[in-house]
Amino acid sequence: MVERRGRVEGRAAIVTGAGSTPGPGIGTGKATAIVLAREGASVLLVDLHAERAEETRKLIEEEGGRAEVFSGDVSLAADCEEMVAAAVEAFGTVDILVNNIGRAALGTVVDTTEEDWDRAFDINLRTAFLASKYAVPVMAAQGGGSIVNISSISALRGDGTVAYSAAKGGLIAMTVDMAYAHGRQGIRVNAVAPGHITTPMVMSVSAPGPRAEFMNTMRSEAGLLGTPGDGWDVGWAAAFLVSDEARWITGAVLPVDSGVLSVTPLMMAPRLRGVPEPES
Ligand SMILES: NC(=O)c1ccc[n+]([C@@H]2O[C@H](COP(=O)([O-])OP(=O)(O)OC[C@H]3O[C@@H](n4cnc5c(N)ncnc54)[C@H](O)[C@@H]3O)[C@@H](O)[C@H]2O)c1
Repeated sequence: MVERRGRVEGRAAIVTGAGSTPGPGIGTGKATAIVLAREGASVLLVDLHAERAEETRKLIEEEGGRAEVFSGDVSLAADCEEMVAAAVEAFGTVDILVNNIGRAALGTVVDTTEEDWDRAFDINLRTAFLASKYAVPVMAAQGGGSIVNISSISALRGDGTVAYSAAKGGLIAMTVDMAYAHGRQGIRVNAVAPGHITTPMVMSVSAPGPRAEFMNTMRSEAGLLGTPGDGWDVGWAAAFLVSDEARWITGAVLPVDSGVLSVTPLMMAPRLRGVPEPES
């Protein structure tokens, strides 16, 4: 049993994408759900793949926390309406919503197809829009709540992922607009912009081997700290933002990026060149 610190004691939370792509390490939604449970929240674990969310529930329950699984597609309005109803049914209300679902896709404005574009917006933006659409009225009716949207540094810097970047940028725009619209209802809305963290989803994109290891090292070296970041770093940031310790913070974008946004590429070039590149 882990120590429970109670920063969100007794709160009811929804985390979307609370499972994790299979593989070593931990996704941001899974880590966020576990941290929130450790901090005393009851968590509705939402995922398209029920077995992934069940795995998160098992980990939370083993630590003495409370969680329920909701399996659904958060890009569908009906599923989001049901998801919020399930949280109210299980926990009595919704105090916290973490809009975590997302997936990167490579492509420039020229080679991205219309289908790629729509898919990126469905996964990265529509999910947050629909989950918020049904959660906000519940929060407003009880006098407050807190929402965190998981964006990306790709919204703020070129990354060769035009549809993903545009959708994650839209998520930041949605964050500030929601913070404005619902501030007087006691609802805080913030975003986290993860940098080059290592999650199973990232590792699943390339085959294991020297090239994948090289890229992973480069992802660490690109930051000012030169150390790897992971799903936990995002989970801890999200938990802070939804807690009362952040009671006067709304409409903010918190980078969790080892300082990548705080340096010019020129200054990092010598460090990146110092990493030996595999031949194949
Ligand atoms: N990994 C990184 O380097 C990185 C960097 C910046 C931002 N992010 C963001 O962090 C978030 C999570 O990334 P991750 O690497 O932990 O991903 P992940 O794939 O491990 O976890 C996301 C979960 O969401 C679920 N999901 C996908 N579509 C869904 C839908 N329509 N309805 C319900 N569930 C759905 C998946 O089944 C999966 O379990 C994403 O928003 C991603 O864009 C990640």
